[in-house]
Amino acid sequence: MKNATPTWLRHHPDSKNSSAPRRISFGADYNPEQWPRDVWGEDIRLMKQANVDVVSVGIFSWARLQPAQGRWDFDWLDEVMDLLAEAGIGADLATATASPPAWLVTEHPEILPVTEDGVTLSPGGRQHWRPTSPVFREHALNLARTLAERYKDHPALVAWHVNNELGCHNLYDYSDDAAASFREWLVQRYGSVDELNRAWSTDFWSQRYQAFDQILPPRKGTAFPNPTQQLDFKRFSSDALKQHFIAERDVLRAVTPDVPVTTNFMVVGETKGMNFSDWADELDFVANDHYRLPIEHSRDELSFSAATTSSLARGNPWFLMEHSTSAVNWQPINRPKRDGELARDSLAHVAHGADAVCYFQWRQSAGGAEKYHSAMVPHAGEDSRLYRSVVQLGQTLDQLQPLAGTQRAPAQVAVLMDWESWWCSELDSHPTEDLRYRQEVFHWWLALLNEGVRADVVQAHQDFSGYDAVFAPVLHMVPHQLKGRLEDFVLEGGHLVTTYFSGTVDQDDRVWLGGYPGALRDLLGIRVEEFAPLLRDETVTLTDGTLGTLWSEQVDITDSGVEVLRRYVGGELDGSPAVTRRRGGAGTASYVSSRLDSAGRASLLRDLLAGAGVEPEIPQQLRGRIEVTKRVGAQGEYVFVINRTDEPVNLQDFAGHALIGLSAGSRTLASRGVAVFHLQR
Ligand code: GLA
Repeated sequence: MKNATPTWLRHHPDSKNSSAPRRISFGADYNPEQWPRDVWGEDIRLMKQANVDVVSVGIFSWARLQPAQGRWDFDWLDEVMDLLAEAGIGADLATATASPPAWLVTEHPEILPVTEDGVTLSPGGRQHWRPTSPVFREHALNLARTLAERYKDHPALVAWHVNNELGCHNLYDYSDDAAASFREWLVQRYGSVDELNRAWSTDFWSQRYQAFDQILPPRKGTAFPNPTQQLDFKRFSSDALKQHFIAERDVLRAVTPDVPVTTNFMVVGETKGMNFSDWADELDFVANDHYRLPIEHSRDELSFSAATTSSLARGNPWFLMEHSTSAVNWQPINRPKRDGELARDSLAHVAHGADAVCYFQWRQSAGGAEKYHSAMVPHAGEDSRLYRSVVQLGQTLDQLQPLAGTQRAPAQVAVLMDWESWWCSELDSHPTEDLRYRQEVFHWWLALLNEGVRADVVQAHQDFSGYDAVFAPVLHMVPHQLKGRLEDFVLEGGHLVTTYFSGTVDQDDRVWLGGYPGALRDLLGIRVEEFAPLLRDETVTLTDGTLGTLWSEQVDITDSGVEVLRRYVGGELDGSPAVTRRRGGAGTASYVSSRLDSAGRASLLRDLLAGAGVEPEIPQQLRGRIEVTKRVGAQGEYVFVINRTDEPVNLQDFAGHALIGLSAGSRTLASRGVAVFHLQR
């Protein structure tokens, strides 16, 4: 990422003729092509009323913009762009390449993706294109170039929005185009087929290749496909989409070098196929889409996703490109948000560094697959509770103007997130199929939140040496370099906490021999000979009375500097170590051999944090009830307090002037409320 400041604001129509103050932007995907022209004027009026200052335009407009090969229709978009510019609303203009039009698919059915069992996917939905199709690429770049040429000087243009949620529907394509590109990718990675044979362990099951052109994507076969082939296909598929982004970006940059380019990530739940950690630096600013999921701890998952997005943005401001004002339409049962949740969800993203709060979408569609998805203007129209809440949030964001451009204030503690460990730890033919990597990371982050400890998310390739403590659960893949960095971290005084199934394999998914946890064995001073995953109804008990699920192990201690923090009680492992800590250099390295329940994680955290000299930032009586985040800038620090509960909370322990959230003279934060305190330097 080139810019530390929110570049989309520097391009904003309002800031061209004045030194208009920066603000936290507010807006949505705007799809005026779904509506007759007379609605557009109404849209602008309502946008102004709600303080909307940025909209994403044209995301699914290819069929309207280019009705046939060589034919273009820009009149409607010209008019929309002009209306936006006159109203002082910026356009995050899409390249419109997300969904190819019918004529293109009819003329070139070879752009359609193919599933692992050989089924060609049909048009009629969206994103029906192969990331590696040269035909699709040519048409997409032509569209992007044509749009860039036409709108390069338009006053509404503030940013480019490449495609949309790359990989949402077409991540894994097993077509012949994909096969050819996969081989090229493998040649680049391995240089020789011998090296590939080594990395892929192909002497197993007679899989040895003589030439690259014998290699296929891991299409549906008779038995488990080669694990490293699967892993490389994941790497390749993520790369193929990243390359598509780069190709569109470079076309745009050639025409409008000063206009920032982004695309909307999907850092949310189990969306794992795109290694955004590896993409983020290609964007001029990071943008994310987040939707509340129908899961336990859904609100906290939002914050964890936002913290992860902040780490991708390296603590710089980022753009919340989409979330929902209320219900979505794609869950089995789609419930509306409860009172207060619209604002709290949006502000929680701001708390984690978002400098733009945008939704899918501006006006709820009357037809099409997403007509029951909420929007800023609902079917009920302007006279609705929902639109009034939107207007109110627009006013609240205005009060947060001083925060725009501020950074995440680093925490003392981080949880480590590693996309490749995510991919690799969840491959088939493993000790258990129940392990969910992201849930492991999230649950440690949540345990820290519940203990009142602010924790950043840090990507494995980023520098984590500044943190006092790093939690790296299920860090399954540890290549040589990461091994050395973790050792240095502990040597220099850092406190590392890791768990079962960590350190197990190298970058080729080949096991570090000599006993688990392989690469981390010496650092942890332990050795495990066999994994002992638990059945779904099985638990193990630890000495503090808490329970473990999913996993257990016979942990042998190999270093006299290791202390046992918890032991197993009863069962096969009775009396053997369950949690250990080794002093190494100035720091410590701890190991947790089972999936602790929340009480177990909480009690262990207290011990580990005390040992690491980390104090909770949330007063005892509010722990578990609020979340605290901090942003910092030239004017001082901004402390966000988010009420996670449905009850009011008393914030008498918080100092500073409240920009939002508290009424004059009161220190009571409403149920589901958010307060922001300003502490001047
Ligand atoms: C995604 C897409 C949007 C819309 C929303 C609905 O985020 O980018 O076009 O489909 O989902 O939640």
